[in-house]
Amino acid sequence: MIRARITGTGSYAPAKVVTNFDLEKTLDTNDEWIRTRTGIVERHLVVEGENTSDLATEAARRALEMAGVAPTDLDLIIVGTITGDYPWPATACIVQSNLGATNAGAFDLSAACSGFLYALAMGCDRIAAGNARKVLVIGAEVFSRIVDWTDRNTCVLFGDGAGAVVLEACEGDRGVLSTHLYADGSQLELLYQPGFGTRNTPSVEGIARGDHFVKMQGNEVFKVAVRSMAEVAKIALDANGMTTEDIDLFIPHQANIRILDAAAKRIGLRDDQVYVNVDRYGNTSAATIPIALDEVNRAGRLKEGDILLLDAFGGGFTWASALVRW
Ligand code: ACO
Repeated sequence: MIRARITGTGSYAPAKVVTNFDLEKTLDTNDEWIRTRTGIVERHLVVEGENTSDLATEAARRALEMAGVAPTDLDLIIVGTITGDYPWPATACIVQSNLGATNAGAFDLSAACSGFLYALAMGCDRIAAGNARKVLVIGAEVFSRIVDWTDRNTCVLFGDGAGAVVLEACEGDRGVLSTHLYADGSQLELLYQPGFGTRNTPSVEGIARGDHFVKMQGNEVFKVAVRSMAEVAKIALDANGMTTEDIDLFIPHQANIRILDAAAKRIGLRDDQVYVNVDRYGNTSAATIPIALDEVNRAGRLKEGDILLLDAFGGGFTWASALVRW
């Protein structure tokens, strides 16, 4: 059986670091509130001239280098993002050009914070169907350009960054064992960006209202996120005939520490099974899981055969899981 195996990981976060104490200077907030409610201590933010495609390209280069795969060998590039350089064309096309991946197709995938796992699923399926041998999957976001920096309810939560994996067609029992994707669009206004698509086109009034900024009802999102992440984790375990005891590492979407803790507890995982880096990056949306995966990989924490459970929830709503035998 042909399945997709992750043969390289890479990540990149902008050099500029903004701490909670930095935010105190311009916003009615404080380190203690942010730390206790979210677990976030600092986040990386882009500077002028730095864009989503730049972060994505650097993360991709690092993943390709680790995998020993040349850009010209790639069949497909998928970027999970909702903060692409342009509404269109796809940021994946810019990455394709930056890398010189002249034999690859390229597209963006919009599933908010679940974007990386959705993109991973597409890459795996393309490989399993025999339509691709090498696929680059990226999660990349620049949320700092779509949050209102005067809205303390949202801006403190997010950061910028990118993570990437190289998927290669392999035989044997290592690789991505399963992916599960779900969505519920009936409550989209709990977490969304009202402007400016074709429903609400750019206008002076719209900009004055801040329609181009993230809107979120945090309490509601919190509850649905915990429930959905727990459900989709259990679905992944059941589908593979596994239990929580089989999980070597749970890498959840890093939204905030309270969501992670609550989801992990509901699934029945111990603290030492859960990877957390939200303190250093904040919520980088589609980038959180591949950044975390790259960190643990480069730290030498993953052994051949380890079982990883990846789990995400985001705007849409969308939620997803992937079970990986490393
Ligand atoms: N600094 C200081 N005070 C603040 C801040 C801030 N940055 N933000 C809000 N407050 C205040 C509020 O104004 C409110 O004050 P009030 O009682 O005087 O009205 C008070 O703190 C409590 O606000 P709540 O919203 O009830 O705080 P809560 O404990 O729910 O925490 C939070 C808010 C952290 C947003 C929480 O709801 C949450 O984690 N939600 C999940 C949202 C999330 O992670 N979204 C990311 C995208 S989705 C995803 O990635 C899964």
